[in-house]
Amino acid sequence: MADPIALLAADRHRARELADPWASLCAVATVTAAGEPAVRVLVLRDVGARLGVFVNATSPKVAEFGNAPTAAVLVYLPSLSAQYRLQCGLEPIDPAVVRDAWQFRPAMPKRMDWFYEAHPQSTPFASRDALLEAVAGLALPEPLTAPESAAGFALNPLEVERLELADGDTLHDRRRYALRDGQWEESALVP
Ligand SMILES: Cc1cc2nc3c(=O)[nH]c(=O)nc-3n(C[C@H](O)[C@H](O)[C@H](O)COP(=O)(O)O)c2cc1C
Repeated sequence: MADPIALLAADRHRARELADPWASLCAVATVTAAGEPAVRVLVLRDVGARLGVFVNATSPKVAEFGNAPTAAVLVYLPSLSAQYRLQCGLEPIDPAVVRDAWQFRPAMPKRMDWFYEAHPQSTPFASRDALLEAVAGLALPEPLTAPESAAGFALNPLEVERLELADGDTLHDRRRYALRDGQWEESALVP
C-alpha cells in the first residue's frame, strides 16, 4: 500500500529540483477560541524522519493548536500541479532539538524570538517605526541561545489526500489515505 508521507517527500524533492518556491512551505489551519478558522503559511521542515513546524509559543497559533485534536495542513506544489491536504496531530518537539535548530536561524528571526518575550507575536504595536526602533534597541543575551518560547511541533498525519491535476482530457488523480492500525488505507476519490 502506498505511503502518502513517502509520496509527499518524493514530490517535495522533485519540486525542490524544479525550484518550486512552495516546496519548503505549507499552510496550517487552526480553529480560534471563537470557533473561527485561521490559516497561515509556515516553513515545513524535515525534523529527523518527521515533518514539523517551528513557531514561537507566544503566537496565537500555538494556543489554537489546543482547540482541536488536529490541524489541517495544506501543501501545494504548483510545479507538479499537486495538492496535499493533511489532517495532523501536533506533538511538541524536544526543546533540545528546537534549541539546536534555532542556532541556524538568521539574525532577525533570532532577535524577534527574544522580542516576543515582552511583546507577543501577532499583537499590535504603536507603529512600524516604533517597532523598528524597539526591535533594534533590544539587548540580546550573551551567548545567544533560544528563548523558552522558541518552539517546534512535529506533525503526525492521520489522514492525507493527494490531488494531482491532469492536463486536457485526462481525469485528475485524487486519492485519500487514512491511517488504520498503523497502516495506510488508500481510496480513490471523485476529483
Ligand atoms: C513564506 C512564509 C514562511 C513563513 N514561515 C513561518 C514559520 O516557519 N514559522 C512561523 O511562526 N511563521 C512563519 N511565517 C509567518 C506566518 O505566516 C504568520 O504570519 C505568523 O507566524 C503569525 O501567525 P499567527 O498570528 O497565526 O500566530 C511565514 C510566512 C511566510 C509568508
